[in-house]
Amino acid sequence: MSGDRIADRRYVDCDVVTAEGRMDDVGVAVIDGKIASVGRVDSLPDARRNVSLEGNLLVPGIIDDHVHTRTPGHEYKEDWETATRSAAAGGITTVVAMPNTDPIIDRVSRLDSVYETADADACVDYATHVVVTSENLDRIPALAGAGIAGFKVFLGITFGDITAPTDGELHAAMGAIAESDRRLGFHEENDEIRAYLEGKFREEGKTDAIYHNRSRPPLAEVEAVSRVCLFADDTDCPVHMFHLSSGSAAEALRDWRQRGVDATAETCPHYLWFTEDVVRDRGTVARVQPPLRTADEVERLWSVGIDDGALDCIATDHAPHTDEEKGVDNPEKSVWETPGGFVGLETQVPAMLTFADEGRVTLPEWVRLHSTRPAQIWGMYPRKGSLLPGTDADFTVVDPDREWTLDRTSLRSKSTATPFDGESFVGAVERTVVRGEVVYDGDDVTASPGYGTLATPADKD
Ligand code: NCD
Ligand code: ZN
Repeated sequence: MSGDRIADRRYVDCDVVTAEGRMDDVGVAVIDGKIASVGRVDSLPDARRNVSLEGNLLVPGIIDDHVHTRTPGHEYKEDWETATRSAAAGGITTVVAMPNTDPIIDRVSRLDSVYETADADACVDYATHVVVTSENLDRIPALAGAGIAGFKVFLGITFGDITAPTDGELHAAMGAIAESDRRLGFHEENDEIRAYLEGKFREEGKTDAIYHNRSRPPLAEVEAVSRVCLFADDTDCPVHMFHLSSGSAAEALRDWRQRGVDATAETCPHYLWFTEDVVRDRGTVARVQPPLRTADEVERLWSVGIDDGALDCIATDHAPHTDEEKGVDNPEKSVWETPGGFVGLETQVPAMLTFADEGRVTLPEWVRLHSTRPAQIWGMYPRKGSLLPGTDADFTVVDPDREWTLDRTSLRSKSTATPFDGESFVGAVERTVVRGEVVYDGDDVTASPGYGTLATPADKD
């Protein structure tokens, strides 16, 4: 605790929400970038500076465990500076990067280059996942000890053309990862179903965006969830489902969890916000892997995933591609020539606040899904994901009532292609604080590139 020390800063005039509940009219004292105490202002230590949050809500810093920073190799789409400026403006205090770069991040030397780039360019704290392929099973122990957040296997072909390991290789990899203290996450889609259906539609000349949805049916996701959980049951490897998109897959996950498998999962705001109708309306811009789902699947994703608690996390799958690549001004573009994914760092907190305003998720549940659970799952808790004394003073400050409409040209990513363009939100990010310092003040990103530090255990040092 703080003892008699004078705090560097006190954030006051706010209500605080954590995964446990809400405290009205309190403040947070910060010493050396760490939380000294949270409580009524008269119980906090004196401070050199008081920062009024003007009645807004302060929550533990939001963590996004699924960000394609595109560096190295695809810097024309995004880089560490633009991704983390966008994260800061979106209320995200820690990003976890995805390894489908060029080259892919599958060995310690490449991981070290990622740390070097992020150390120089990141405006918020960061960590990274590494990929497991047919070729790097022998490197699993070294990677596990190199400060990674987690491992990732791409079961379905997606951007980056990473071939999935065979089932035999996957089973062996899971045995090796079970020996480490890291978790293995998946892009969980059955690729044989995808390849067959995509091939058939291509042959038939079906290039409309909706055929991409048809080529990746819920069955492909359910099969992959089930296979992964079957292997996890056998190997005791803790697993995570990235971007789970359908109610059917959430039901499969729930059933395996009830049988005792250590499987966690996330969904993304777009799977909760949109149905596949947006693909009919907006075309290739809304192409994403796995695809947006029917109203029935979305409803069951809500009821099983959120209401019954089968899902642990919210993440963006922030996946920038240029307007030209996404066919923004070219409605005739074949969906098969369009990459999947779109940006999300600046819309995920407002989307979740909008769901809270509609009464579909409570604020403490939102904090659990978007801060506490991702920190726990990727080994950053309690340093991240809590407001416990002695932990990093990472805060997301939001106005839960502010109404606004997205004009994509305001986004800070290199890419601004998103189906959220023109959508209206209730709730906005007012300030982002990383280790006690304001990195976004409501108008501008105030952190310099290089402010961000590694958020995972420092065993890389
Ligand atoms: C992602 C990308 O572009 O890197 N695309 C996507 O449609 N989700 C890859 C991925 O997460 O599968
Ligand atoms: Zn994926």
